[in-house]
Amino acid sequence: MKLLEDRIKRDGTVLPGNVLKVDNFLNHQIDPNLMYALGGEFKRLFEKEGVTKVLTVESSGIAPALMTGLQMDVPVVFARKHRSLTLTDNLYTATVYSYTKQVNNDISIDKRFIAPDDKVLIIDDFLANGQAVQGMLEIAKSAHVAVAGVGIVIEKSFQKGHQMVLDAGVRLESLARIASLDDNQVTFVTEDE
Ligand code: G4P
Ligand code: NA
Ligand code: NA
Repeated sequence: MKLLEDRIKRDGTVLPGNVLKVDNFLNHQIDPNLMYALGGEFKRLFEKEGVTKVLTVESSGIAPALMTGLQMDVPVVFARKHRSLTLTDNLYTATVYSYTKQVNNDISIDKRFIAPDDKVLIIDDFLANGQAVQGMLEIAKSAHVAVAGVGIVIEKSFQKGHQMVLDAGVRLESLARIASLDDNQVTFVTEDE
């Protein structure tokens, strides 16, 4: 999506360790107009899939997920993060390992907010190693809900997540795909790759 790629080129900075900092429009300060446009693009991509609910993880997934829900006129549910859960009877839970922080977190969704007749669209801000998406796919499986696909704002295509989603047999749409962050430069995947 050109609007997004242009914004990343203009306002994104590359930090050591292959990290793209986009805290002036996505991860700290948020540009609502851009988020609304991203939501419109996810709607265009997934509107024929019968999506009944958008699913994300707190906190940075919420902004693009909310605008996708607004555009598609469906509710948005975000999984909550906890260090480790004890009382889980009323929750669907999955364990998510963060490579960057080297900790396990449980993510969970209250069973009241996801039902077997739902078809969920999973939205997240970043796809890196894919642990968060994998956790949401696990929750969808536990809840016996269909998955319409995964919509990602920024995919780091050189990390493991992209292949993990495809291996799971799930449709993946990433609005910006980054091939490399080498030499402090953002290089996008070109169309034919
Ligand atoms: P993943 O397996 O879920 O793909 O992510 P990973 O553990 O590699 O990364 C941990 C956190 O860092 C995730 O956020 C992920 O979205 C974020 N992240 C990964 N790569 C980048 C990057 O290049 N730039 C930025 N800005 N973020 C990145 P989180 O801590 O789980 O979520 P949140 O609380 O920020 O929403
Ligand atoms: Na994040
Ligand atoms: Na995220």
